[in-house]
Amino acid sequence: MKIGMIGYGKAGSAVAAILQQDPRYQLGWIATRSGLPQVVTVGHIEVPVVALDPATFGDWVDTHAVDALVDFSGAASVAVYGAHVKRLGLMLVTAISSYDHLQLDYIRSLGTHARVLCSPNITVGINFLIMAAKLLRDIAPFADVEILEQHFREKPEVSGTARKIAQSLSVDDGKIVSMRLGGIVGHHEVIFGFPHQTVRLIHESIRREAFGTGAAFALSELQNCENGFYSFDDLLMMRVRKHLTGT
Ligand SMILES: NC(=O)c1ccc[n+]([C@@H]2O[C@H](COP(=O)([O-])OP(=O)(O)OC[C@H]3O[C@@H](n4cnc5c(N)ncnc54)[C@H](OP(=O)(O)O)[C@@H]3O)[C@@H](O)[C@H]2O)c1
Repeated sequence: MKIGMIGYGKAGSAVAAILQQDPRYQLGWIATRSGLPQVVTVGHIEVPVVALDPATFGDWVDTHAVDALVDFSGAASVAVYGAHVKRLGLMLVTAISSYDHLQLDYIRSLGTHARVLCSPNITVGINFLIMAAKLLRDIAPFADVEILEQHFREKPEVSGTARKIAQSLSVDDGKIVSMRLGGIVGHHEVIFGFPHQTVRLIHESIRREAFGTGAAFALSELQNCENGFYSFDDLLMMRVRKHLTGT
């Protein structure tokens, strides 16, 4: 599958490296705000970089065909490429976490014309942890639940992922315990306190490349989907259903 990458910053460059290493995918080009430098080396491959300019992007995508777009840029980009997702039925994986309601509605509408995955958290591990925690909460609503998040010393705010875990378990944000310690990249732990046992579900972030593993998973799952708008949770649940039914 040929990929057009939107955004090549801290996350995008790590994701591009993972996609380029994966034999299922080939990076066709990268689009950024500036379009500079004009070429980057990803692994051993030179990949062209173009500016995501509304005046020229349509011609670019027509002459440099790809099957899918993977977006790790900013919330504004979809206004430039969205029409071409619609026109060409391009598969879209967008990881942007800061869309407003109007942008989200627009992205949802693209699902009528293409297969679209939109996820503010795109790691397989965290999404799996949330799914497992929801299941356990359902099985044992009487267990006490606390969420522990640990991050590097400089991170000022409570982790958005921890808030999302709390929300999906219907527990109050007051159940989140935050620790700021040295250089920890990201630790999320959901602790279930039963009367006679304790269950701890733990996710440790190691490197940004984990976002690439999530994007690669999303692209491969979307291939088996109809046009539509999907969350990461939707894709995981489809996989679980397949596993349970053996189909
Ligand atoms: N869902 C997840 O799990 C997840 C994980 C990590 C990151 N993200 C998201 O990924 C995005 C990038 O994060 P980052 O840390 O890599 O940021 P970053 O280092 O600042 O990189 C941003 C990249 O996007 C490009 N860009 C920004 N706005 C653009 C626009 N309007 N049009 C075209 N290109 C644009 C920038 O191009 P220039 O360099 O030319 O300005 C740069 O290449 C953020 O929205 C973040 O929320 C999501």
